[in-house]
Amino acid sequence: LNFRVPRSRKTIFEILVNGLQRLEYRGYDSAGIAVDEDSGKDHTNGGCICIFRKKGKVKALADELDKQTFLDFDKEFEIHFGIAHTRWATHGVPSEVNSHPQRSDKNNEFVVVHNGIITNYKGLRTLLESKDYAFESETDTEVIPKLTKYMYDNRESEDIRFSTLVEGVVQHLEGAFALVFKSLHFPGEAVATRRGSPLLIGIRSKCKLSTDQIPILYRTSKNNKNEGASKAHQIETKNLKCLHPTGEEKSVEFYFASDASAIIEHTNRVIFLEDDDIAAVSDGYLSIHRIETSVGDLASRAIHTLQMELHQIMKGNFSTFMQKEIFEQPESIINTLRGRVNFETSTVMLGGLKDHFEEINRCRRLLLIGCGTSYHATVATRQVLEELTELPVMVELASDFLDRRTPVFRDDVCFFISQSGETADTLMALRYSKDHGALTIGITNTVGSSISRETDCGIHINAGPEIGVASTKAYTSQFVSLIMFGLMMSQDRISMQKRRKEIIAGLQFLPDLIKEVLSLDEKIQLLARELFQHKSLLVMGRGYHYATCLEGALKIKEITYMHSEGILAGELKHGPLALIDKMMPVIMIVMRDPCYTKCQNAVQQVIARQCRPIILCAKNDEESRKLGFKTIEIPHSVDCLQGILSVIPLQLLSFHLAVLRGYDVDFPRNLAKSVTVE
Ligand code: G6P
Repeated sequence: LNFRVPRSRKTIFEILVNGLQRLEYRGYDSAGIAVDEDSGKDHTNGGCICIFRKKGKVKALADELDKQTFLDFDKEFEIHFGIAHTRWATHGVPSEVNSHPQRSDKNNEFVVVHNGIITNYKGLRTLLESKDYAFESETDTEVIPKLTKYMYDNRESEDIRFSTLVEGVVQHLEGAFALVFKSLHFPGEAVATRRGSPLLIGIRSKCKLSTDQIPILYRTSKNNKNEGASKAHQIETKNLKCLHPTGEEKSVEFYFASDASAIIEHTNRVIFLEDDDIAAVSDGYLSIHRIETSVGDLASRAIHTLQMELHQIMKGNFSTFMQKEIFEQPESIINTLRGRVNFETSTVMLGGLKDHFEEINRCRRLLLIGCGTSYHATVATRQVLEELTELPVMVELASDFLDRRTPVFRDDVCFFISQSGETADTLMALRYSKDHGALTIGITNTVGSSISRETDCGIHINAGPEIGVASTKAYTSQFVSLIMFGLMMSQDRISMQKRRKEIIAGLQFLPDLIKEVLSLDEKIQLLARELFQHKSLLVMGRGYHYATCLEGALKIKEITYMHSEGILAGELKHGPLALIDKMMPVIMIVMRDPCYTKCQNAVQQVIARQCRPIILCAKNDEESRKLGFKTIEIPHSVDCLQGILSVIPLQLLSFHLAVLRGYDVDFPRNLAKSVTVE
């Protein structure tokens, strides 16, 4: 938003499009922009908001804008607020109509860009449809501008503020969001808010800022029944206190963005908004207030001066995308669970499977099919799925499944697990299974991908874009998605209730336990220093942790180029024991679960061959400690969820080994993120 800083339309487009290009690493299936057609001051006199949207990369949007020759590119705007968005689909395939900005109506009275997920959008949509709001898209986002218009049209007070209106709207939203609102009714004004998704405000001004703190305005009308009018009044009064960042000289630009990479070329002075902050710019003044007064909250938001380079900002505090993605797991798991698991009632609802649920319930067998890491997610969850569904569960590598021309029947349910949703072998296995009449379910991280389009129904894992070639957060989110499926299938089985409750409670604590595991990072880095010059590294375990062995060894192979094998400890005596001597580094996974004693036996067998294993065990496991070898101790979770925790030290270890060996962690040699050839 530029205020008394003249900007040409061409420059406005450039600022917005360049900003989007900087954010493309967060997702890039479509992009859109909304700007004023004229000054935006008087929409009754021909003024309107123009929206341009395009499927594909931001470049496609930029090319589209160049074609809008009916617009005067040199026209200057003294005050202008434009919004733009690059999308990574969560609801609805990538398409023009599903991209953002989403709008309230054909006149574009309210336009909104959104990052995150609105989990209660179905109820809101039904409500708004009953009030004759016609929806155009399949997105969850569209309810936001429509609800805004509904609340505006039904406002109690004629002179409602834009921020008051938005505050009313967000109180009806559930899920995660960062939102920026633009409106024909409030020209030159911006409102932005967040809950769960990041949002910051950059401030650029030629003058010295008169403050380094923006005070937070609190409402006192929380219990006031006559909210509409009194709220508007209170903000009116309190707003007098809010600061203009430049003091006297009122020429300033504000930039709202998900992360600083989009705006760093314009300013390094930023305010990071907190959940439930509502930031509004009106008449060049910025004010921030809280939706509700929360105890112990700060009284102001600081204006920070960023010193980072662009590439650093994209990766946050991390040196590589893989490392960033490993550390994102507490958050990505929350996003996978969000809106699906009700921890109070111990129920699970996977909306994407709802319409086919009866058919799924009648099936005779589950086949889980994937490649690479996605296949390992099937191995990891097979046992608990067998337990919860009481069905035979087959896990299949897509290529082998096709090579064997595996028999598939009409009463089979086949799952296709794929981060990208584009892996050729998995896609072909899907088509093969469909031809044989099976019901097909996709578990992908990419809405609109071939696998999500071609399956009958599916679960979107919502892990957010994964850029590092070696998959990390997608694995743990696939793992959780499959568990949620098992929980949903066993919802009505009385004999399963105790176990289901235990697992659901375990899911609730998972994000915190993941954080605890991530705090082992330094220790694991030290371990990597001892191991990085070795040629091989074996990872051994059994039961729930066999998948961790396979996945850990795959991570090590992929990015460190060391020879690594995931070995089922039950097979030790049938071959792998011949590899063991005092030189061979071995990681043994020994958790407190039904396989504990058997794993201890395996440890004894390798020790007897002079090996000094590193033991990945439960926190404070005295028996493992007593052996006197190095331990990596992780917190305890429910047995079938423990694999989500045990894999993380191995993700971290592979990362540190690769760094120490001097390799490109994000782009390992000979490998691609998405393998679209057979
Ligand atoms: C490639 C990637 C792996 C990934 C596998 C399956 O090999 O390098 O990281 O696990 O494909 O990909 P998908 O997108 O189907 O999960």
